[in-house]
Amino acid sequence: MAQLVLPKESKVTKGKSIDAAAGAKRRRRFVIYRWDPDSGENPRTDTYDIDLDKCGPMVLDAIIYIKNEIDATLTFRRSCREGICGSCAMNIDGTNTLACTIATESIKGDVTIYPLPHMEVCKDLVPDLSHFYAQYASIKPWMQTQTPPPPDKERLQSKDERVKLDGLYECILCACCSTSCPSYWWNSDRYLGPAILLQAYRWIIDSRDEATGERLDDLEDPFRLYRCHTIMNCARTCPKGLNPGQAIAEIKKLMVSRSI
Ligand code: SF4
Ligand code: SF4
Ligand code: FES
Repeated sequence: MAQLVLPKESKVTKGKSIDAAAGAKRRRRFVIYRWDPDSGENPRTDTYDIDLDKCGPMVLDAIIYIKNEIDATLTFRRSCREGICGSCAMNIDGTNTLACTIATESIKGDVTIYPLPHMEVCKDLVPDLSHFYAQYASIKPWMQTQTPPPPDKERLQSKDERVKLDGLYECILCACCSTSCPSYWWNSDRYLGPAILLQAYRWIIDSRDEATGERLDDLEDPFRLYRCHTIMNCARTCPKGLNPGQAIAEIKKLMVSRSI
């Protein structure tokens, strides 16, 4: 049987270990993936033993503390620190999630932190999302209309039409779902993945949008849409509690209903 092994330069080595919790009552070890493209060295995991009484309750608070007080070279993204911007998405304790909404105390044992899986890494915990954003742009995520707007008011929706956007508009494009999807891991060059397809459905189902046919035409492709095999990792991991797999199934149903 073929033996699949990582290239030598991709092997993750054990890095430095820093004990910054002398005398602490609430010690916790954070094991964090590190990689600096300028160093020419292999990726490694550094271990920081810290005092949880010195930082806030969330994992993001702890890594901000590490960066501010222990190791300024640690690199990660964050902005809102309240689950709105999606910047702090990373793999924590084996699950893709938002560092700002997961409490350190909810994790048993060492807190392991890696960048979102199966993405190119820019540095440490920062994945390269350029391709993900290009895929997002490809679905034209804005309202498209042919008819002129009403002269004296906005384009309105009924309450029932508006309710159809629930479970879709809340998506913060954090990429946790796409980077947990095996189909996206293997085919992300051509498969749009759960996050982008959920966004596509958000516009397809919007009663004010007038490009439904074109949007479905654009997805009618063996790869862009149909690589979803209903594995549902996406719904399991979404930190906002959304269900991209269901949105994808709804798109497939629309494809079938327009063909009969
Ligand atoms: S569906 Fe959920 S996991 Fe996926 S990008 Fe949106 S918020 Fe993130
Ligand atoms: S349901 Fe589809 S999009 Fe979601 S994880 Fe599975 S294959 Fe990926
Ligand atoms: S910092 Fe914005 S979602 Fe975590």
